[in-house]
Amino acid sequence: MPLVNAVSEIQLAYDDLGSGSAVILLHGYPFDRSMWRAQIDFLRDAGFRAIAPDLRGLGETKSSGEITTMDEMARDVVALMGQLKIDQAAICGLSMGGYVALDFVHLFPSRVNALVLAGTRAPADNEQEKLVREQQAQRMLSEGMSFVADATLSKLLAPRTLAEKPEVITHVREMILRSDPKGAAAAQRGMAVRRDYSDDLPSINVPTLVVVGREDPIRPVADSRFMHDRIRDSRLEIIEDAAHMTNMEQPETFNGALLTFLQSLD
Ligand code: MLT
Repeated sequence: MPLVNAVSEIQLAYDDLGSGSAVILLHGYPFDRSMWRAQIDFLRDAGFRAIAPDLRGLGETKSSGEITTMDEMARDVVALMGQLKIDQAAICGLSMGGYVALDFVHLFPSRVNALVLAGTRAPADNEQEKLVREQQAQRMLSEGMSFVADATLSKLLAPRTLAEKPEVITHVREMILRSDPKGAAAAQRGMAVRRDYSDDLPSINVPTLVVVGREDPIRPVADSRFMHDRIRDSRLEIIEDAAHMTNMEQPETFNGALLTFLQSLD
């Protein structure tokens, strides 16, 4: 059930279903909270409270800024927790949502009881990657989002998903196409200036699940191994027949790994 509430200085749209320990699901770029549909229902049915916001400038959460930093997104999430009276949560982020989760655990360690880092990476962008992001931001602002869908679907989804799961292709395409180019460009610029989280990893002291699609060309398995090797209390789950959108491509495997992890916390 989508709700819209005033959080910090913006209106943050979010879903909040179920009761029990809170799990906050942070979407990737340029997507929205609907990518977590299968996890929200599953977590609610498994006895958890699942909260999925649309991050600033994406989905139904509007923002007029020219750049949205990962730090701002993390602060929006803590403001949402305050509003929902949640002291601690498991923070689960995919790709850009993973950057936000890494910022969040650094800024607000006492508010996190577990981390899930899916299809993400710790190092910052190099100069070439920053340049490409700026070029894409400018192109989105002048042309809209369709070139992003055309250029990225074959990287976001594994060959098996592309061959067998037309509903997943449609959902991912629709999320990209309905993204506000201004919000997407601002997030793209925010990712370009994100800091290098590598040195934070050894001091993460909550249980962490690192998830990656075996066939992810965007954030390959090596990026996840890098985090797993440096986060003391972490486990690594490699999902077969999935690329970047592991939770949508293989929801049963993703949910199973998530549940096993969450149930192990006590
Ligand atoms: C995402 O899925 O959030 C993006 O691929 C992240 C990125 O561009 O670094």
